Amino acid sequence: MREVAGTAVLITGGSKGIGLATAEALVDAGAHVAITARDAELVRETAERLGARGGGRAIGVPTDVRDLAQQEHAVAETLAAFGRLDALIANAGVGRFGSIADLSVEDWHTVIDTNLTGVFYSIKATLDALTASQGTIVTIGSLAGANFFAGGSAYNASKFGLTGFTQAVMLDLRDRGIKVSTIMPGSVATSFGGREPSSADAWKIQGDDIAEMVVYLLRTHPRALPSKIEVRPSRPPTR
Ligand SMILES: NC(=O)c1ccc[n+]([C@@H]2O[C@H](COP(=O)([O-])OP(=O)(O)OC[C@H]3O[C@@H](n4cnc5c(N)ncnc54)[C@H](OP(=O)(O)O)[C@@H]3O)[C@@H](O)[C@H]2O)c1
Repeated sequence: MREVAGTAVLITGGSKGIGLATAEALVDAGAHVAITARDAELVRETAERLGARGGGRAIGVPTDVRDLAQQEHAVAETLAAFGRLDALIANAGVGRFGSIADLSVEDWHTVIDTNLTGVFYSIKATLDALTASQGTIVTIGSLAGANFFAGGSAYNASKFGLTGFTQAVMLDLRDRGIKVSTIMPGSVATSFGGREPSSADAWKIQGDDIAEMVVYLLRTHPRALPSKIEVRPSRPPTR
């Protein structure tokens, strides 16, 4: 097993949902985390709260994953704060849903540029630092990257793309000592899509469940590479 305490982890979209749960789990395990997201105020407040938990340290760098220069800046800030980067959790993502007749050009670009090109930029920005540390990359994909549905054309395209992209990058980087995995969750109780989770979402996967899997992946022995993990709610409501 690898030690997580004392390592430095960059989490995109770390201000809410799965990214925030992952940041909390890692700080509690003694890792230092850098979180990014677009809402600058929330990023700063969240980093402050994470740093006050008493485990590892935390910084927040307001960043839009659709901008490579902003992502390079976030990596530079991480290295300045912690002196190293051991893992990237490429988690930031958005959903826009609607039948193809209703889906706007803007919706398409928002989803593809964030969920697919944004992850490409995250990896480009962190590659040198992760090569130096022999680090780990985890992308947060989706079961929508394996199963399509009506109204999901942009989201399905982004997540099917991310599944293939992450697996190809895994093959590119394993010989360089960098482990690349993708976690593909089904429904997770977060504010994804602008809807606040309630007690009616108790059957869904919780952010903490995915966080636990990320910590597990970072701890896995260097010789073992769980490359693709599908996670579904064990007891979805019967229709
Ligand atoms: N919830 C689910 O059911 C579910 C299921 C499968 C997969 N997923 C995937 O899990 C990931 C996290 O989703 P979540 O459910 O935790 O959603 P969430 O609660 O809405 O959190 C999304 C995070 O991403 C950030 N973000 C969005 N666009 C961004 C951008 N352009 N640049 C930087 N940060 C950005 C958000 O902050 P700002 O808005 O401030 O930027 C926020 O921190 C996504 O990739 C999603 O596709 C979710």
